[in-house]
Amino acid sequence: MIQITNASKTYAARDGSTVHALSGIDLEIADAEFVSLVGPSGCGKSTLLRLVAGLAPASGGLIDVDGETVDQPRRDIGIVFQSPTLLPWETVLDNVLFPLKIMHSMSPDAPDRARALLRLVGLDGFEEKHPSELSGGMQQRAAICRALIHDPDILLMDEPFGALDALTREEMSLELLRIWTDQPKTILFVTHSIPEAVLLSDRVVVMSPRPGRIAEIINVPLPRPRTFDMEGLPEFQERSQHIRSLIFGDRGGRHGAAT
Ligand SMILES: Nc1ncnc2c1ncn2[C@@H]1O[C@H](COP(=O)(O)OP(=O)(O)OP(=O)(O)O)[C@@H](O)[C@H]1O
Ligand SMILES: [Mg+2]
Repeated sequence: MIQITNASKTYAARDGSTVHALSGIDLEIADAEFVSLVGPSGCGKSTLLRLVAGLAPASGGLIDVDGETVDQPRRDIGIVFQSPTLLPWETVLDNVLFPLKIMHSMSPDAPDRARALLRLVGLDGFEEKHPSELSGGMQQRAAICRALIHDPDILLMDEPFGALDALTREEMSLELLRIWTDQPKTILFVTHSIPEAVLLSDRVVVMSPRPGRIAEIINVPLPRPRTFDMEGLPEFQERSQHIRSLIFGDRGGRHGAAT
């Protein structure tokens, strides 16, 4: 579904120097696969998502989605950005419907679908509010609904649960797995939480910084549906520990997170 071949990305910094954000990235993601990206802050995770989304051009290499080279944003991709990006002057409901509006694909049942998605993430009753009346976590949940409204085949999620408290975060991750099982999508998911990456994913891509490269890709052969009890299994703990040592080296990841 997504094929990244020898992709690199350099940015021109303001002082005229060049930032090598990504180098030599090779990654193939199958239809309906759930893949997470983890790695230290600044290693190029958001950049990689932007390249796949067609929001920024690669400096080298090729990005193909569904057999086509990505050279502009695609309609069949839903994106949840790292910080909530709702339109402040629109209601929550209209924010969720926004992708349909700009794609001119509004259908009579769309508002009902938007309401159902909002209910799913616990935002029923907030449809007519404006983003400023919501907490950061609530805004992020609305942004997740917006990414799902056009039922995209591919979902790119950049730390979608970063602004949520631990309980909501667990609830939302199981909800995401439920949606993914119900309507299989190819998901590329950035997270700073190693347990979250292992629990959700078929594979975890561990990146190393400057320039961002793939350090290792770890398979997670745990059965599905996944449950939080699985965090106690040796397979889970071995993989989490291995990822932690890849990221932190000898420091061993005392903080339990990738940064
Ligand atoms: N628009 C830009 N212009 C210049 N440099 C950039 C730009 N965007 C990102 N960078 C640089 O590219 C590198 C990768 O950034 P990126 O945002 O992809 O990292 P990240 O892995 O998502 O980090 P985090 O975990 O903190 O979100 C960083 O060194 C960053 O400074
Ligand atoms: Mg980022």
